[in-house]
Amino acid sequence: MKLLVTGGAGYIGSHTCVELLNENHDVVVLDNLSNSSEESLNRVKQITGKSLEFYKADLLNKQQIAAVFADHKIDAVIHFAGLKAVGESVSTPLKYFHNNITGTLNLLEVMTEFNVKNIVFSSSATVYGDPASLPITEEFPLSATNPYGRTKLMIEAILKDLYHSDKSWNIALLRYFNPVGAHQSGDIGEDPLGIPNNLVPYIAQVAMGFLPRLSVFGNDYDTPDGTGVRDFIHVVDLALGHVKTLPKLLTHKGLMIYNLGTGQGYSVLEMIKGFEKASGKKIPYKVVDRRPGDIGACWADPAKAKKALGWEASKTLADMCQDTWNWQKKNPNGYRQSIKEKREHH
Ligand code: NAD
Ligand code: WQD
Repeated sequence: MKLLVTGGAGYIGSHTCVELLNENHDVVVLDNLSNSSEESLNRVKQITGKSLEFYKADLLNKQQIAAVFADHKIDAVIHFAGLKAVGESVSTPLKYFHNNITGTLNLLEVMTEFNVKNIVFSSSATVYGDPASLPITEEFPLSATNPYGRTKLMIEAILKDLYHSDKSWNIALLRYFNPVGAHQSGDIGEDPLGIPNNLVPYIAQVAMGFLPRLSVFGNDYDTPDGTGVRDFIHVVDLALGHVKTLPKLLTHKGLMIYNLGTGQGYSVLEMIKGFEKASGKKIPYKVVDRRPGDIGACWADPAKAKKALGWEASKTLADMCQDTWNWQKKNPNGYRQSIKEKREHH
């Protein structure tokens, strides 16, 4: 198949490109590089020994999207492109609504124009809000606690309405839990600009000595050790979930929704311990107040994806920590040459 991967230079997109190329799919990437670097795609080519086409293009520019569809007969789109920082979405909601919603509408309009009606969308466990019980199945009620999460809910609703208006669309909504880790080569991984917002990249930078200590956001949650519990999933398992979704999308057809998680929750303290073991470094930490908007615990019921897609996560907590550490050590400044260049970019 020939796939258009929007946001393919980003963290999850680049790992998915590797697995798509490994399955001999043709890959076209569209990315505006607002939160990524073209170097990730050079690494994807290096890892797979295969090539892909890259368009530096913005979903906010319909002509730029249309140019890609005019050049290639696309079979399906995997739509990763979007802004994803929860805190930033609270301070600049319009930027998030414009980029994520308008960007998606532009993409869907161009797809309609070119009669390409197969799409896999990156949704998130954030659409479950603060769940009433665990594990979370796809039927749980949906809500949003911040503008970022609201963009995911709104795009899900747009895609559902689109499907109801025209049943020839095939749409997969994949709700990711907490992606972490990196490709085992250590050549691609998560490369946050500035100080990381998320737990695992933050721990990795503490282990490198770039940040003095981790702040643990609360130890008074209703969890075994009081710290937050999440369903951390290795990014390569997540990438393989996309590969497994494609044949289902084209044979089963219609609108489908799957949780992509492991079904297992780990606490913040367990993640610290796992990372200390993988890196051989002590991770200094201090317990501070809860982070506003955080929930106590969240993990998936992944049974539906297993049954329908024949997919399940297979990598362990040790793999997640080891692969993150390997990537971080091999690329102390991510894809940029120097810390100075990284700061200037930011
Ligand atoms: P990322 O920031 O690494 O990748 C997103 C990519 O989209 C970046 O390369 C960015 O440059 C690109 N992009 C953003 N706006 C664009 C635009 N207007 N036009 C073209 N390209 C644009 O993020 P990621 O972690 O790889 O996430 C990928 C998708 O998965 C996102 O939609 C995100 O919301 C979703 N998701 C991520 C997580 C997570 O924790 N990482 C969890 C659940 C869902
Ligand atoms: C995990 C746990 C924190 C940082 C976010 C988005 C969600 C989804 C995935 C996109 C929590 C604790 C964290 C730190 C800490 N993204 N923590 N100190 O919040 O579960 O999910 O990313 O869809 O929408 O909200 O992930 O990695 O930020 O936090 O103690 O410095 O680690 O309180 O319990 P989160 P996270």
